[in-house]
Amino acid sequence: MVDLAARHAAVAEDVEARVLAVLRSGRYIGGTVVDEAEGALAQALHRRYAVGVGSGTDALAIALLAAGVKAGERVALPALSFFATAESVQMIGATPVFVDVLPDRPLLDPDQVPEDVEIVVPVHLFGMQAAAPPGRRIVVTDAAQCLGWGHGAPGGVTSALSLYPTKTIGVAGDGGAVLTDDPEIAALARAIGSHGMSAPYVHERWGRNSRLDAVQAAVLLGHLPELPRRAAARRAAAEVYDDAFRDGPVTPLPRHPDDGVHQYVVLCAPGRRAAAQAGLHRAGIDSAVYYPTPMDKQPVFGGDGRSACPNAAAFCARALALPAHEGLNHEDMARVITAVMESA
Ligand SMILES: Cc1ncc(COP(=O)(O)O)c(C=O)c1O
Repeated sequence: MVDLAARHAAVAEDVEARVLAVLRSGRYIGGTVVDEAEGALAQALHRRYAVGVGSGTDALAIALLAAGVKAGERVALPALSFFATAESVQMIGATPVFVDVLPDRPLLDPDQVPEDVEIVVPVHLFGMQAAAPPGRRIVVTDAAQCLGWGHGAPGGVTSALSLYPTKTIGVAGDGGAVLTDDPEIAALARAIGSHGMSAPYVHERWGRNSRLDAVQAAVLLGHLPELPRRAAARRAAAEVYDDAFRDGPVTPLPRHPDDGVHQYVVLCAPGRRAAAQAGLHRAGIDSAVYYPTPMDKQPVFGGDGRSACPNAAAFCARALALPAHEGLNHEDMARVITAVMESA
C-alpha cells in the first residue's frame, strides 16, 4: 500500500548521510543522535517527552507499566485494532477486556467501558481520534496509527507510537516511542526500556531491553521533516475519495475535524468486498482488510469464534482500505476510483 523504496528515495541523501555518520561514530546505543531524534519527535508531536523504544508494541507495554498498570489488572480496549494492542496488555500480565466500537466509527465506545475497569486504552485507528470514558485511573492511548494528528492522549497523559516502516513516519525496521507530558512517566519508561536501570547498574525494578537504536534514530531524523507533507497528502487523498464515493458504491467512514488519515477505509456493501478487491487487483491496485477479525474472536482467546462485539464484527466484514499516501497522484487516484466504481 506504500512504496517504501520510493519514500526512501525522496530523503535518501539526508538519511544515508546520517546513518553513515552513526556507523562511523561507533556509538550505536543511546548517544546524541538518539537524544536529538527523541527531542525532534516530541517537538513535532507537541509533547514534552518522547522516549524511543524498540517497537510500537513495546511502547504500549512500557507506557502501561510506566503509567502504573500492575499484573492482574483489567484493561479495557476496543475489540477492533491491530492485535498488538491486546498483546501489549497480555505482555505485562494484565487482562484485556474487549469493548465494542461505535456503530458508525471504528473506535472504542466510551459508554460501553465497564464502570469497574479503571484502565483504558483507546486506539486512534486509521488516524481517527478515539475518546476515553471520563474519570478512569489510567488512560494510555494507542497512537500507533496517528502520528501527525491530534495530541494522541485524550483524557490521559501518555500515548504509544509505532515507527513501523509503513506508518506516516517510519524507520528502516522496528521502532516506537512513549509520548508523555509527565516527567515521572517519561523517566520510568526510559528505565523500564533499559533493564529497569535508574542509574548505571542500579536496577530498582524489572525492565526489558527495548530502545530506539542510533541507526534508527538517524533514519527518523531524516524522515521527520516530511511529516506535514505526508499527513497533508493522506488527508487530500481522503477528500478526493470521499467526494468520489459520496453516492456509493462504497461508504466512506465519517471523519471529524480532528481526525487524520493513516489509512483510508471504506465500507463495502454487504457481500461485495471480495468483488471490490478482485476488481482492484485486476487493475493492478493494492487494497487491504484492516482487520478481518475482531480481537476477541482470535483463536488465542479461545471461545466459540463468535464476537461479543457486534459493531466490530460488522465492521470487519465490510471494511476495505484503499491506497492513500504521498506517492499517489491524481491519475493514480482516478484509477482507484474507477476500479471501485466498476467492481464494488
Ligand atoms: C493500532 C496499532 N497498535 C500497535 C501497533 C504495534 O506497533 P509495532 O508494529 O511497531 O510493534 C500497531 C502496528 O502496526 C498498530 O497499528
